[in-house]
Amino acid sequence: MRDTLGPGLSMLGAPLMHTTDTGLQPFFAMEILARAKQHEAAGRDICHLEIGEPGVPAAPRVLAAAAAALNQPQGYTHAKGRIELRVALTRYYEELHGIAVDPHQIIVTMGSSAGFILAFHAAFAPGARIAVTQPGYPAYLNTLSGLGFAPVEIPLSATNGWRLTGPDIEAAFAAAPFAGLLFASPANPTGAAVDRAGLGEIVATCERLGVRLISDEIYHGLDYRAASVSAVELTRDAIVINSFSKYYCMTGWRIGWMVLPEGLIRRGEMLQQNLFISAPTLSQIAAEAALAERDYAEVQKAAYAENRRLLGDGLAALGFGGQPADGAFYAYADVGRFTNNSMEFCTRLLDEAGVAAAPGIDFDRRRGNGFVRFSYAGKRQTIEKALERIGAFVGSST
Ligand SMILES: Cc1ncc(COP(=O)(O)O)c(C=O)c1O
Repeated sequence: MRDTLGPGLSMLGAPLMHTTDTGLQPFFAMEILARAKQHEAAGRDICHLEIGEPGVPAAPRVLAAAAAALNQPQGYTHAKGRIELRVALTRYYEELHGIAVDPHQIIVTMGSSAGFILAFHAAFAPGARIAVTQPGYPAYLNTLSGLGFAPVEIPLSATNGWRLTGPDIEAAFAAAPFAGLLFASPANPTGAAVDRAGLGEIVATCERLGVRLISDEIYHGLDYRAASVSAVELTRDAIVINSFSKYYCMTGWRIGWMVLPEGLIRRGEMLQQNLFISAPTLSQIAAEAALAERDYAEVQKAAYAENRRLLGDGLAALGFGGQPADGAFYAYADVGRFTNNSMEFCTRLLDEAGVAAAPGIDFDRRRGNGFVRFSYAGKRQTIEKALERIGAFVGSST
């Protein structure tokens, strides 16, 4: 397959594989994306399955709301966000979760990414130990290390569908205590989701151990087995972080929100005032419109559900391991049969077959060489073409 590379690829150079001594590591999926863009600039057709973002724009009425707002002044808003959006978010909690949240508890953020920074600094002293799951979203570790916190990893087990449990938390805490736990359900990269009983066990375990829970609910709504349960339904002590990026197809609008426990609201607000002033005004207006466009989001979700089936069946037929996930839009495939170096596998899959995927070492520095994450948030035709190319690639490599 190597001779299908096309011209100009000698410019691409070797894949970056370094880690800095602070523990900060590159986001390898982004490096694959950059390499894929270079291939495209050289005229090649690439199937993008490396990045977790929907391939469609925000709902038409969201775009219309933003367009209508464009000729009004775009000044700063209240640090916690426009009151109209925060009130709309309280309706979201009432309607979807049957729970009353006060607009005063909500801070509108620049995506969930900014929410993490506010949460860490609002709830913990610098240097605090904060647990995350392994595998998990790479920015958790990198943000914590970059901000001077001490990340602790809780290994999850594939045989339990990669779901975090109370005993997992207990065991990690017994080995070395931590002040906080950040986890996502549905999760990235595994799509694992805990049900109400599972989340209840996590909440109760954190309460018993005195661990502050941060619940990353960014993939809520993208659930294929049961409706997502929010931590606000079960406790008033957790920090809940959410975003318009995934379900509402608004990654580049950089808009999300957090729900804070009473004792952390003022600190969160002061941090927001100083770190970010406020989230982008236009995006706040668009986000308010998005909350009324769940029908559009459900149409996209139906397409992901179809892609999930197609990709899951296709990868299984090609000898990849792993089960269809509970939620999100990722297949975390076991590639142990093909490689023991996931970055090299992804680089070759891109260079030789024109399929971009994220290496497991992004998500799990210990076991990730045996895994690759494929995102199925794009078009069905992309998945079909990618499966053909992956089939030819593994066929020629084994
Ligand atoms: C689990 C998880 N949390 C947070 C984010 C960041 O999202 P954003 O900052 O766009 O809201 C991502 C992005 O992929 C993610 O997978």
